[in-house]
Amino acid sequence: MCGIVGYIGKKEAWPILIKGLERLEYRGYDSAGIALLDKGNFSVYKKKGKVAELSKFIKDKNSNELSGGVGIAHTRWATHGIPSDQNSHPHLSNRGDIVIVHNGIIENYLSIKKVLINKGYKFKSDTDTEVLANLIEDIKKHEKVSIDEAVRLALTEVVGAYAILVLSKDEPETMIIAKMGSPVVIGIGKGKSKSEFFVASDATPIIEHTNKVVYLEDGEIAIINKKNKKLTLKIKSIKNNAIKNPYIHTLKTKIEELEKGGFPHFMLKEIFDQPESLRNTMRGRIVFNKGSIKFGGLEKFEKEIKNLKRLTVTGMGTARFTGLIGEYAFEELSNIPTKVEYGSEFTYRNIADTLNTGLIAISQSGETADTLNAIKKAKKEKMLTLGVVNVIGSSIAREVDAGIYNHVGPETAVASTKASTSQVLLLVMLAIYFGRMRGLSKIKGQEILKEIEKLPVLVEKILKNAKLIEKLAKKYKKYNNFFILGRKYNAGTAMEGSLKMKECSYIHAEGCNSAELKHGPISLIDKNFPSIVIVPMDSMYEKMKSSIQEIKARGGLVIALTTESNKELKNIVDDVIYIPKTLEILIPILAFIPMQLLAYYISVERGNDVDKPRNLAKSVTVE
Ligand code: AGP
Ligand code: GLU
Repeated sequence: MCGIVGYIGKKEAWPILIKGLERLEYRGYDSAGIALLDKGNFSVYKKKGKVAELSKFIKDKNSNELSGGVGIAHTRWATHGIPSDQNSHPHLSNRGDIVIVHNGIIENYLSIKKVLINKGYKFKSDTDTEVLANLIEDIKKHEKVSIDEAVRLALTEVVGAYAILVLSKDEPETMIIAKMGSPVVIGIGKGKSKSEFFVASDATPIIEHTNKVVYLEDGEIAIINKKNKKLTLKIKSIKNNAIKNPYIHTLKTKIEELEKGGFPHFMLKEIFDQPESLRNTMRGRIVFNKGSIKFGGLEKFEKEIKNLKRLTVTGMGTARFTGLIGEYAFEELSNIPTKVEYGSEFTYRNIADTLNTGLIAISQSGETADTLNAIKKAKKEKMLTLGVVNVIGSSIAREVDAGIYNHVGPETAVASTKASTSQVLLLVMLAIYFGRMRGLSKIKGQEILKEIEKLPVLVEKILKNAKLIEKLAKKYKKYNNFFILGRKYNAGTAMEGSLKMKECSYIHAEGCNSAELKHGPISLIDKNFPSIVIVPMDSMYEKMKSSIQEIKARGGLVIALTTESNKELKNIVDDVIYIPKTLEILIPILAFIPMQLLAYYISVERGNDVDKPRNLAKSVTVE
């Protein structure tokens, strides 16, 4: 993972780079660093810890030291070598002529390192990245080639994933960018400052400077350098130097969408965004008079979609949990046999018979390596690949045959909230879309659509009671273990609730199908092990009530999450959280929200870094 940023132009590079790193910090925050190239000299500053620490360190510097209109920067999520100043990027080559930032993993770095050590190279860090810096230097020295050719030749020897930015002292008005597996976007300066370029792992650091961007593709190397006093961009194939024509996209994201909007944390803002984000997810897609859904992105593949006989849903973390809810919806409304798989497992196992099987890949970031690789594998198996993705133009969005965007805007907090409810909604909408091609009646379709349209108002109602959940957070923050229990559609809700609790509150929470409880896990229950039981008044209500009784009989505390009309549970359990009534298939969308709030408030109570929990990163671009 990690975020990379680059700037080349007439402005001072460092403030642009630091701001860019702040925007990309969700991708990793083990350490941060920056390299500036001024008058043929590099200044490199790097620090263990968050970008704020680097920023403070840099601001204390003498402003002369900080000048330079060319620079690269990095915020790290360590894969090779502990988070430390030494292992931080940028990495200089041995002679100090070349500097590099890297997102990804160089898998064959050890064998290359051995060869370089034999040639006398010394290494200051444990990273795979420093090996690449020295390999480039070695090739440049021996082949006597330009920096872009040296980078290209080095990359032909490398196995693994990378997005890299490289600068060389010898060519101080040149920046090299290359990509394989990890994302990188190039922003083209606009207006008077057309002769400047911004580079980043995603478009968020670029959007405030320009909306014209080029997404580099796998296997491409980009060279930005000066021709006739103007900076120009050239893209080539790493393999054979063939020139590629860059396709310039125009971005539509607004800068306000990236800010916290008055909330103390992005996570809380994003939880409160949900009435609007759900509206945006359904906007223009509901065709009420036909009891159906219109997905512009799928139209070209309608014939193939009609022929699908089976579905595999894939994703990681939250995306897989929303897939588990989708599985029930596809089998109930679309009558298509469906299974859910970790992207990471799908990629490396034998897939038996893929005839007429579709892969639905779910990903907020659109960059998750495990999910991206599953899509690549499915394409090799000739499966139709469909994406449910939030980030427009992301790697997964571009890799799938066809797809649907969530349209929830940027999600910045590491813990997914508004993307997750939107994923469940889109999966139910997809189930209606598939279902209407396979015998789901118009009336049934309309019945669900009517309830879908009410969701934003119901979510607003839940959010109005956020204070009650804040109170519960104060009461339950001391417990280190929780069960979160549900069945059917809400088995997935329980898993997602437990992930929120783990990642934000650092509480061990186990998401469990409540029927499974009595087959072993119940032995954990005592007065110090509370359970959150998702027990809406739906087809599983009576069964769920029995699970509650079983827990109470063993002295366990229970928080019940139930429908607002329920009168009896408050007499049985310790605390109750109410959600409005809706169709069984839509309950997870409402039930997610109190779970998000509880995890958020406990995290605040415990003094955790809510938006950037320890050891994590928002976008997991390594396997
Ligand atoms: C969610 O709260 C997590 N941070 C994480 O599990 C996430 O859902 C997972 O890494 C997948 O990310 P994606 O949706 O961007 O592919
Ligand atoms: N492999 C590099 C390192 O460990 C880059 C890590 C990343 O992309 O997250 O420093």
